[in-house]
Amino acid sequence: MTPLPPLLNAPLSVPAEVGGLTLESPLLLAPLAGITIPPLRLFFAGLGAAAVHTEMISCAGLLWSNGKTDAMLDLLPGEPPAVVQLFAGDRDTLARAAEKVLKDTPYKAVGINMACPMPKVLKKGAGSRLMKRPEEAFAMVAALVKMGLPVWPKIRKCPPDYPLTTEEFCRGLLDAGASLVCLHGRTPAQRYAGDADREIIREMAAEFPGRICASGDVYTPSQAVGYLEMGCPAVLLARGAVADPFLFAKTLAFMGHDVHNSYINPPPDLRISLMLRLGDSVSGYMGPRIGALFAKRIMAGMFKGLRGSAALRRKAAEHSCWTELRGVIEQSDSCLERRE
Ligand SMILES: Cc1cc2nc3c(=O)[nH]c(=O)nc-3n(C[C@H](O)[C@H](O)[C@H](O)COP(=O)(O)O)c2cc1C
Repeated sequence: MTPLPPLLNAPLSVPAEVGGLTLESPLLLAPLAGITIPPLRLFFAGLGAAAVHTEMISCAGLLWSNGKTDAMLDLLPGEPPAVVQLFAGDRDTLARAAEKVLKDTPYKAVGINMACPMPKVLKKGAGSRLMKRPEEAFAMVAALVKMGLPVWPKIRKCPPDYPLTTEEFCRGLLDAGASLVCLHGRTPAQRYAGDADREIIREMAAEFPGRICASGDVYTPSQAVGYLEMGCPAVLLARGAVADPFLFAKTLAFMGHDVHNSYINPPPDLRISLMLRLGDSVSGYMGPRIGALFAKRIMAGMFKGLRGSAALRRKAAEHSCWTELRGVIEQSDSCLERRE
């Protein structure tokens, strides 16, 4: 496997103060259910994420399930500062689960999901349903603040028929003790479709300086930096990082940092090497079937723009075991080349 060059030619020299944490940069990996498992978090940390989120983790699962949910709390050695994101429909369930999670925790902050629009979460009174029950949402923040870690609720833009405006909701969360509010500029009804509203982020960042972390439609370095220029102390990279795993590095370079050119114009052998490392690490952690699944999820973005990548993906689709898929990727060196 080709050795990886260091990401940076010179260390990042200006730390970012984000929601009670001092981070190397303001570029964070968003919480992504089904994606931000520990090996993926390590992968994105190696590519420039200054902090990472877990997937959203069910408090009911932590309290009453058979241990499968507990495994979602694992952190691997070498992970950067990590935020554990919890979801629950009421303050008691949240507080009881959080007590268990936050005892001697390696996590640096705790997130509360008040943004998820999916029916299975809403029907438990959790996720974005909490935006309709602001008093419960504020009580949840207050309950976690007592446990000592910075609390980062994640919310969406409030539509007009909700009890509070986005500004009132943010204010209530901050007054309850939240260190940072992560704001996704889509309403719950939009789910992940349509454009994210950048103006609501601009308005909230102006109203609550240094307290609003931006989320929504971050696919390019200029979109990420645009949010920082609005006064957000940090920005969440989500689908954009999956679509282009080099987005963190490219954004750091766009911000003026001295990033190794291999991560800005990645050659095929570096991409293959990263893919092999990722597949090996997911496979080692969760087995060869899941290893293949995650590798396929990241492949399109990893090999995007290379001649031969579509053929490679078609070949990859035939394999559901990482051991076999690994061989296919390893041998792809000769058929992948940069488009001129
Ligand atoms: C597959 C997927 C899973 C997600 N899982 C979570 C989650 O567990 N917790 C959360 O707060 N947001 C979750 N989100 C929302 C993202 O963190 C982010 O706010 C959203 O995708 C908007 O950013 P984007 O338009 O740049 O992708 C998820 C989004 C997607 C697409």
